Amino acid sequence: MSTPASAPAQGTLLGSGKPSGTAGLNALMRAVDHRLPADRRLADDPYAKLVASRAPRYKYYVRSPLTARLALGAFDKVFGGFLAEILLRVRYLDAVLADAYAQGVRQLVLVGAGYDSTALRHRHLEGLKVIEVDHPATQGAKRKIFAAAGVQTPTVTYLPVDLESTSLAESLPGAGFDAEQPALFAWIGVSYYLRRPSFDRALADLASMCAPGSRVLWDYLDPSVVNGTSKYFSAKFAARIVAKRGEPYILGLTRRQAADAASFAGFRTVEALRVPDLIRRYGGRKPYVAASDFMGVALLEKT
Ligand SMILES: C[S@@+](CC[C@H](N)C(=O)[O-])C[C@H]1O[C@@H](n2cnc3c(N)ncnc32)[C@H](O)[C@@H]1O
Repeated sequence: MSTPASAPAQGTLLGSGKPSGTAGLNALMRAVDHRLPADRRLADDPYAKLVASRAPRYKYYVRSPLTARLALGAFDKVFGGFLAEILLRVRYLDAVLADAYAQGVRQLVLVGAGYDSTALRHRHLEGLKVIEVDHPATQGAKRKIFAAAGVQTPTVTYLPVDLESTSLAESLPGAGFDAEQPALFAWIGVSYYLRRPSFDRALADLASMCAPGSRVLWDYLDPSVVNGTSKYFSAKFAARIVAKRGEPYILGLTRRQAADAASFAGFRTVEALRVPDLIRRYGGRKPYVAASDFMGVALLEKT
């Protein structure tokens, strides 16, 4: 079922062999969001706490809905724009998945899944087969944490893959992926950690596996964040933090470049949203959701 990763790419997260810390940070944000009253939650992920509860200050953040709100406000000061995108892209994925399922799609592939809980939160979708692709170190950590908590994921097939060294087109069929059937691919929070050739290959691989009716949801980060020229404090701050932790942003794309890359790979853009668009659509109230505009999410369909 799995394709072992070969030599990790140097300079990326994966050179270290450690699980992704940014995936853990995303889970922390989702877990704190989950402590808000139900009508204030943006991502509403009840499983994120399995991961987040290992963070030293987590218990202070989630002592009450008020502390959760204050913690999110503080995150938003330093990670403004990211916080909104990380939480709201989950909402967007939920909506896109519901739509795809209603159209008959029964395969969901999460590429760079991290601590994503879509399979668990949507287990009522009968017959939905989920394949989680991730770097072996992150995926191994996730499986251990979920197993230790007694959380079963019977609908998930795990595929450990380093996208820097392994082709999705070659590895996915071994995990039971059926390229003849339509699928939804969610590739969120990942593109900016990849080298350009690996990103291009992954996009081309996805295109090659898209049966009619398939869609890809992905996101990208502006080049100004990667090269340190962003006008947003949070973008510069986050770029420094992730680099320090061994997961530097290495690929930035403008909206135009993102659209061109998709179209070059053979996709039509169904919808392209920036963070302010996500906030307009799904909510997010001050003071804890800054609308800094340096990231985009796009829904693609094979032409
Ligand atoms: C920021 S996390 C996002 C996780 C999840 N999609 C989310 O939204 O919370 C980045 C994810 O990409 C994965 N990743 C980064 N580089 C990768 C690579 N070369 N091959 C496979 N996975 C990779 C990490 O292991 C991690 O799970």
